[in-house]
Amino acid sequence: MNISFQDYRKNDIHGVSLYPATMIAPVQNMVMKSIFEVDKIKTVYDPYHGSGISLYEAIKIDENCEVYGFDINPLAHLLTYIKLKGVTKNIYNDVNAVKELIQCAPCTPLEFDNIGKWFRKDIIASLSEIRWSITQIKSKRNRLYFWSIFSKLVRKYSNTRSSTYKLHIKSSEDIAKVKNNVIEDFLTQIKLNAKKFDVRAKHVNLIKGDVLKLGNKIRPNSIDLTITSPPYGDNQTTVTYGQFSSLPLFWIDKKDLKLEGWELDNYSIIDRKSLGGSSRNQISQTGFSLIEPYLSKISKPKQRKVLNFFADYFLSLDHICNVTKKYIVMTLGNRTVDGINIDLTSITSKYLEIKGFDNLELLNRSIPNKRIPSIVSYHEGVPIHSMSKEYVIIHNKKQP
Ligand SMILES: C[S@@+](CC[C@H](N)C(=O)[O-])C[C@H]1O[C@@H](n2cnc3c(N)ncnc32)[C@H](O)[C@@H]1O
Repeated sequence: MNISFQDYRKNDIHGVSLYPATMIAPVQNMVMKSIFEVDKIKTVYDPYHGSGISLYEAIKIDENCEVYGFDINPLAHLLTYIKLKGVTKNIYNDVNAVKELIQCAPCTPLEFDNIGKWFRKDIIASLSEIRWSITQIKSKRNRLYFWSIFSKLVRKYSNTRSSTYKLHIKSSEDIAKVKNNVIEDFLTQIKLNAKKFDVRAKHVNLIKGDVLKLGNKIRPNSIDLTITSPPYGDNQTTVTYGQFSSLPLFWIDKKDLKLEGWELDNYSIIDRKSLGGSSRNQISQTGFSLIEPYLSKISKPKQRKVLNFFADYFLSLDHICNVTKKYIVMTLGNRTVDGINIDLTSITSKYLEIKGFDNLELLNRSIPNKRIPSIVSYHEGVPIHSMSKEYVIIHNKKQP
C-alpha cells in the first residue's frame, strides 16, 4: 500500500478548522477501506480522536457503522462532533441570520485573563461581535459549525505566531501589520464551507475526557476496528494540543463546550493532564522491558518523563487490546530524547504482539511539516531534528 499522499491538500472538511498534528485523511481512508473490504466492520473506535479524521473517514466508507471516540481536549470534541453530525437543512438561513446579527451586535468586548496580550483591541471588538451573533442562533449543530470556523479565525487573528503550536507572541511590528478582516473572513468561510458538513452519522458515541478514566465506557471485545494516533510524549514541548486550543476555548461560549471544569484554569493545563503530562501510574514489567534499552542511554531527568509517558501509554494500549475484537491500526512517530531516537513504532508493535495482536503491516510516509521547526533542540551541541517520517501499523487479533 502506498500511503505517501504528498499532494494531498486539505481542501475537504478537514481543512475547515485547525488542529495540531492531524492524521492524513486519505491515508486513514485507504487503510480502513482495505480492512472494510475483507471483513465485516460494524464498530470503529478512536481513543484519541483529535479533530476526528479517522471517525469521519469511517463514516464516509460506511454510514451505518457505529463510531466511538474519546478526547481530553474540548476543542477536539467540538470539531469531531460537528464533522460527524453535520449542519441542519436550515444552515443557509442561519448564515444570513449571523450576517445580520453582526451588524447590530452590542459593543461589549469579551474579557478573559491576558486577552490584551493575545489580541489587538480592534480584533477583540470584531471577534466579540461574531461571538455574540453565534450565541443567538437556535440550532446547536449550526452553532457548533460556526464555532469550528470561528476557532480557526481566533488563531489566525491572534498575536501568537503561526509557525508553532505553542503560544509564542509575535513581534510588535508583526502584530501591527495584521489587517483586520475578521468579519469578512468569517462570513465568507461560513458560506463557503457549509456544504462540506453533509454527513449525518447515525451512531455516534463521543465522550470528552481522559481515556485512562473512561475505559469502562466501552465493553470488552466489542470493537471491530480501533484506529488512532496517540500523543507521542511531546505534548508539553513540541505538539502542545492544549496550548494551541486554549485561545479558541476562551472565546467559544462555554454552553457549547463539553467541560469538566478545569480546562480553562490556565493555558497549559490541558497538556499537563494529557497523556505524557504528569502520571502517577507505575509502569508494568512488560512495558519496562521494552523501553529499558532506550532509557539507559538518556539522562536521569529525561528518564522520568519518558517513564511517566510510557506508564500511561501502555495502560491505554491495555485498554485498546481489551475492547478490540479484530483490528488495531495506529499512526505513530518516533521522537528523539537526549539524542536517542525512541522507536515508539517498534515498541508499540511488540507490545501489541505480546497482548495477542499479530502485526499484518508496517507502512511509512514522509511528513512535510511547516509548523514544527526542522531543528527542535540541541543535545550536547548536536541538532535534534523533528520527526520526518510517520508510520502506520496494522495488527489483527490472533485467532484462538
Ligand atoms: C495525535 S492527536 C490525534 C490527532 C487525530 N488523530 C487527528 O487526526 O486529528 C492525539 C490526541 O490525543 C488527545 N489526548 C491526549 N491525552 C489524552 C487522554 N489522556 N485521553 C484522551 N485524549 C487524550 C489530545 O488531545 C489529541 O487530540
